[in-house]
Amino acid sequence: MSDFPYTDRFTVNRTLPEQGRPRDEVLAELREMAEAEDPTWETGKVSGTMYCGDHEHYQFLDEAFGLFAHVNVLQRDICPSATKFEGEVIAMALDLMHAEAITDTEPVGMVTTGGTGSIIHALLAYREHAAKHRGITRPNFIKPETGHPAFDKGCHLFGIELRTAPIDPQTTQVDVDWVANNIDENTIAIMGSACNYGYGTVDPIPELGQLALQRGVGLHVDGCLGGFVLPFAQELGYDVPLFDFRVPGVTSISADNHKYGYALKGSSTLLFRDKAYRNAQYFYLPEWSGGKYHSPGIEGSRSGGLIAAAWASMVQLGREGYRAYAKAILETASTMQNAVRSHPELMILGSPTFCFSFRSDEFDIYHVADAMKPKGWRFNGQQYPNAIHMAVTRPQTQPGVAEAFAADLDDAVEYAKKKAAAGETPVSAAVYGGVPGGMTDEAAQFIEGFMEHILDTQQSLPPL
Ligand SMILES: Cc1ncc(COP(=O)(O)O)c(C=O)c1O
Repeated sequence: MSDFPYTDRFTVNRTLPEQGRPRDEVLAELREMAEAEDPTWETGKVSGTMYCGDHEHYQFLDEAFGLFAHVNVLQRDICPSATKFEGEVIAMALDLMHAEAITDTEPVGMVTTGGTGSIIHALLAYREHAAKHRGITRPNFIKPETGHPAFDKGCHLFGIELRTAPIDPQTTQVDVDWVANNIDENTIAIMGSACNYGYGTVDPIPELGQLALQRGVGLHVDGCLGGFVLPFAQELGYDVPLFDFRVPGVTSISADNHKYGYALKGSSTLLFRDKAYRNAQYFYLPEWSGGKYHSPGIEGSRSGGLIAAAWASMVQLGREGYRAYAKAILETASTMQNAVRSHPELMILGSPTFCFSFRSDEFDIYHVADAMKPKGWRFNGQQYPNAIHMAVTRPQTQPGVAEAFAADLDDAVEYAKKKAAAGETPVSAAVYGGVPGGMTDEAAQFIEGFMEHILDTQQSLPPL
């Protein structure tokens, strides 16, 4: 990571070239960039993001994608394949989430562009369903503080008041009493994570389900991260509480194909206990001069390639393949967590699954990040409290990676102790710690600067 080749090849040109270039030349340039980037995560030292990491699997998905990449699935009359792929992806995900337990309503689903896509579609469905069936015009939604920011984004976009429930600092699970006390006649739904991004912990979904049923509100389970791992963890005998449609009161679940579903980026599945929720968010414009318009979700045109690749990943791996991958990931996560636990100066937050976070009362935890970064480790930084986050994916299951983590962590703890004794502050804290102090002017400026760094710069730079 430290000697990542940020060279001229990543310069951002800002004009449409007058003359086109030969395909071979363009492909050679693309290949050169990909080959420069891939080694950064192939080491297995990068948290999350590269969920499969197997180039043969990616090639297989690329081929599946390529066969249908040009197809617009909005035009179903010319692509019956999309109806098959989408229908089967949804059905397989419903199967995984034990929709067979649903007897009184018709379970359905939709394929979206990612975790955020699934979450905002769920919010839209709850808002529209509540408007239609409960006459709610000033909707509110409750999420635990650990709920993904996609819920904040969706509430912002759809004019839904967001109520943020505190979590127990020990377990990191949502305070169910707080949720109960803050549901009112305008609450459209509540949510819990299985598991949350920050700590990899699972909210008490059965308790939330009871509450949702008692109060007549929806309950979304965010399984974007855990949806394709935790069902197999349960099958393998890990102590993962129920979080799927077997829990009465769970009305929707999101599970990301593009994370541990090992599909290409741009694909997630959103499932509903009752067709009435999904159907509430359809958009129709029958009187448009361009023809009667309707779309199943927020997007208009969508590529058939992504749906084909999601389908290909699921049918190629099958339950057996997912279970084997989950087993290796869970075992690696356990080895890495034990390495953290071997240091009395470090504390793991809550009872995590395959993702975990750790902090320290002895020193600023970002000293540990500072020491591990030059060795190629790329963790996610957390705040309130400052913590280091590791989402274990398949690249970490390669031989030697968990052992390297343990060895590098030993050195990093010694380094952190020395730095703390010398009263030094960590180099990477400003970014690893997120934006300090909430949305101050300073924080807003930082974010704007960061966005410009990503979107407007002429020369690609190493990460801040
Ligand atoms: C628990 C959880 N929910 C939702 C999301 C959002 O997913 P996406 O980045 O695909 O929009 C993430 C992303 O990491 C996540 O971990």
